[in-house]
Amino acid sequence: MTEEAILEALRVVEDPEVRRSIVELEMVKRIEIDGSKVDVEVLLTIRGCPLRTVIEDQVREAILAVPGVTSATVTIGTMTDEERDRFAAKLRGTPEQTAESPLLNPHSTTRFIAVASGKGGVGKSTVTANLAVAFARLGYRVGVVDADIYGFSLPSIFGIADVKPVVVSNLILPVQTHDVKVVSMHFFVPENRPVIWRGPMLGKMLRNFFQEVHWGELDVMLLDLPPGTGDVALDVHNMLPKSKELIVTTPHPNAADVAVRAGLMAQQVHHDIIGVIENMAYYQCDQCGEKAYLFGRGGGDQVAETLGTQLLAQIPIGATGKATGIFTADSLQGEAFYELAIGLASTLEMTPTKRKE
Ligand SMILES: Nc1ncnc2c1ncn2[C@@H]1O[C@H](COP(=O)(O)OP(=O)(O)OP(=O)(O)O)[C@@H](O)[C@H]1O
Ligand SMILES: [Mg+2]
Repeated sequence: MTEEAILEALRVVEDPEVRRSIVELEMVKRIEIDGSKVDVEVLLTIRGCPLRTVIEDQVREAILAVPGVTSATVTIGTMTDEERDRFAAKLRGTPEQTAESPLLNPHSTTRFIAVASGKGGVGKSTVTANLAVAFARLGYRVGVVDADIYGFSLPSIFGIADVKPVVVSNLILPVQTHDVKVVSMHFFVPENRPVIWRGPMLGKMLRNFFQEVHWGELDVMLLDLPPGTGDVALDVHNMLPKSKELIVTTPHPNAADVAVRAGLMAQQVHHDIIGVIENMAYYQCDQCGEKAYLFGRGGGDQVAETLGTQLLAQIPIGATGKATGIFTADSLQGEAFYELAIGLASTLEMTPTKRKE
């Protein structure tokens, strides 16, 4: 039994936040071997890291799996400022890579889908979040940017409004929930303080969401755009020229008119519109299966036809999880989002990274 053997065994342990080996990230500070007893110290970025017991258990398990080891003592320490800087530098990668986020690289294989609507309250954020969860359920690596920087609501939809992202030497780690990585302006403004943005700051903020955030590798990234036909769509286009746009509308003809305007704006900035989602399309009776069209009918078809694209999904009205806006996998809505994700993945020629059962 050698230090190298122990270090090799620890390679399988990943930092749950950045999903990279703790050995590769140089988080293993000390290994001491005394006969068949092993004593290691692992450094975490912040004191009182909520994931500390997860790492501790995995480290102990990995060491005990090495032949000849009878006992393992695991000490969890905290990085010094210097060690934290080195850790951040490792995450950022080589200096060449820091110039531009890998996601913004034209050769990046990440697919970008911006979710837009003509007016507020049609369920754009709900659609973004649930579509992201559906992609994750299919085994894709998913990131979500809450680009609705005034009306950010994704954290409460995901049930993470009280969570703060970990910041390591100015590098922000997205909050992970439902197997999705989320970054929202919500995380960076003091509570109850309105956000006032001017155009240029807005674009800069959006860029920061890419540049200053360690996303890791992603198969698909969704962006929740603010409602209407604003500057943000233009910024997104400049930054992510390959981005596709999904238009969300309700079935009501009035809502459809406004949604068309958002779609026309997307076409103006040469965003490919990938399709239309009709949200709150109908209410389906549990017992009899009959559909009640509470908010009118035909909005989705009308928008799709006017914009020369397709109606991809009709999401029924329903109840989400208790503390979140996420529909369960077995609900009518959950199933509709699952089908939608399968269809989009096929259109965008995506293959899942982490195949799931
Ligand atoms: N299919 C649905 N069934 C039932 N309720 C829904 C559905 N979709 C959205 N909602 C509810 O409608 C409300 C508005 O949804 P959401 O916040 O997603 O809309 P939005 O278009 O993002 O609004 P905003 O313009 O404020 O950003 C929320 O309370 C949400 O829970
Ligand atoms: Mg919203």
